[in-house]
Amino acid sequence: MKIHHIGYYVKNIDEAIEIFQKLGYKISSECFFDETRKIFIQFLENHQGGGYRIELIAESEGCELFGKKFKKFGSTPYHICYECEEMERTLEELQKENFILIREPQPASAINNRRVAFMYSDAVGQIELLET
Ligand code: NI
Repeated sequence: MKIHHIGYYVKNIDEAIEIFQKLGYKISSECFFDETRKIFIQFLENHQGGGYRIELIAESEGCELFGKKFKKFGSTPYHICYECEEMERTLEELQKENFILIREPQPASAINNRRVAFMYSDAVGQIELLET
């Protein structure tokens, strides 16, 4: 499956943006506030040696997405987002591979309201699916 982005949990989004820019990434979106999930989202891209997109996610007041593990380990990549053509069919196929659905498909306001869902497998951890 085609990778859309790698999602990073970061403690301080401004600081993270500055450092990623020094690593060769360029800002590729507005810094977006997701009202529902209470998170800030910023996309950056690095076009050296291929083309990589990262999504920085920082919590704001009242966010309940991240538990103690994140607080302990600090800023870290935590999901790879894959593009899929048909969300329901992909979810079904991955469920056969022992992925469990951890967040129902819903529109992602930071990605033109395209639908995203999160799944988890013991073998590979958390993945995000983005409908094309
Ligand atoms: Ni993501």
